Amino acid sequence: MMKKLLLTFVAVVSLVACATSVENQEITVVPYPSELIVGEGTFDAKGAAVTYDEALDSASVKVINALAQRLSFVTGVETAVSAGQSDKGFVFVLNAEIPSEAYTLDVTPEAVRVEASGLRGFNYAVQTIRQLLPLEVFASEPSPRTKWTIPAVQIKDEPRFAYRGLHFDEGRHFYGKEEVKKILDIMAAYKMNRFHWHLTEDQGWRIEIKKYPKLTEIGAWRDTKVCAWGDVKPDGIRYGGFYTRKDIAEVVAYAKERFIEIVPEIDIPGHSQAAVASYPEFLACDPENNHEVWKWQGVSGDVINVANPLAVQFAKDVIDELTEMFPFGYIHLGGDECPTHKWEHNAQCQALLKEIGSTNYRDLQIHFYKQLKEHIAAKPAEQQRKLIFWNEVLHGNTEPLGNDITIMAWIGADNAAVDAAKRGMTTILSPQIPYYINRRQSKLETEPRSQGYGDETVERVYSYKPMNNVAAELQPKYMGVQANFWTEWVEEPEVVQYLLLPRLAAVAEAGWTPAERRNYDDFLNRLQGEAKFY
Ligand code: ACM
Repeated sequence: MMKKLLLTFVAVVSLVACATSVENQEITVVPYPSELIVGEGTFDAKGAAVTYDEALDSASVKVINALAQRLSFVTGVETAVSAGQSDKGFVFVLNAEIPSEAYTLDVTPEAVRVEASGLRGFNYAVQTIRQLLPLEVFASEPSPRTKWTIPAVQIKDEPRFAYRGLHFDEGRHFYGKEEVKKILDIMAAYKMNRFHWHLTEDQGWRIEIKKYPKLTEIGAWRDTKVCAWGDVKPDGIRYGGFYTRKDIAEVVAYAKERFIEIVPEIDIPGHSQAAVASYPEFLACDPENNHEVWKWQGVSGDVINVANPLAVQFAKDVIDELTEMFPFGYIHLGGDECPTHKWEHNAQCQALLKEIGSTNYRDLQIHFYKQLKEHIAAKPAEQQRKLIFWNEVLHGNTEPLGNDITIMAWIGADNAAVDAAKRGMTTILSPQIPYYINRRQSKLETEPRSQGYGDETVERVYSYKPMNNVAAELQPKYMGVQANFWTEWVEEPEVVQYLLLPRLAAVAEAGWTPAERRNYDDFLNRLQGEAKFY
């Protein structure tokens, strides 16, 4: 079914493209570079030698060697690689003046000259070269009869935003590391650099925590595959799964090789029913009652008892293990959709609220986070992590959480982001509409089951303008953009990929390409090649 859908999509795109006159006909690079001038003629890549600056680090050389190996394989002609200087063939030159993710690429009939200051820039230049080559460069079979040319072009490229992310919810449905690796491959092709891994939910806890084994013995399993909703009843199928430490290490290494940082999310104290079901004796507000991993969609009221010192210790311990597993800069602690009614009926929570001098139960959530922030602040330098929260932490509370956090703006995103920036916080734009790209992307009858009515089309996603009309002094607080993928309705990997593409490419372009260079018709034209590849 998915193949058919993809073909339908390609057919639609081709029709649109034929009917439109677009510049840069053969430049199929996505995201579009920040500056590009089309030259005269083409470079013949088949058998062209590769030369790299002797001063290059070994990791950059590895990226260049990988390109050469791919060329040798697909063209059927050996590509020679050597250190040194040349003005012919592929030439990779170190230029310390160029910012870390930026590069220049100058293609003439004689040479493909790349300049960058290090690994990231060389990597992105190589991604661009791959996209400029015929599509067969991605194939699993050699294609010696293909005309292995690259159009002459002059590119000066750097990203608009530092953070170009994709979120993936494995709490509702669990996909496993092979699927995650495929997603990381797609992200890398589009120069995306943050994978926000949503690892815990009411419906499942997906990461092994050594100190709390019941999180995965109990919390990773439920008695239904579907997340029930309305007339969709629990199906009674035992369902679940989780990542061991070994799995996490494998995915971390895979992401690092693709220059993608992982932002692990532990969504606490709301969206935590699976954790509460695992350790009701200290996480539940009402341990005397029965607690189970949730079978339903929506927002569970069964939140963590933030007034129990053992629950605070639990959160600190989980953060400690996350810090060991994820050697990156950020941890996401969730913070969205946290009902307070269980706290309102719990004597410990009532007493704590009095103790902190508040009458607003939302402040208990902030008080909880403050203790976790202090815990992280007391760690040695190499274990420091910055915290990201969903934008609910800005609203409804009277207790401030401090400005040294990042707000992920999803609901009323543009306003929330401005609000965060004005308070001095950094912010990431992931507007629910249209950046929740798990939602239906068309009104076709064959569209798979998901949320929404098919209004979040490729065009709608592409047309969102991040950081539009934002005052110049606030703009440095905008770290970037993120597409979110929730899986309440999505159970199969094929459906994940169908819904991701090509909308993820649209978000990638919003994150990379200068606003004034983005053009939907041109994007569709460039996408033809990309869509065929996937
Ligand atoms: C969210 O969509 N609950 C962040």
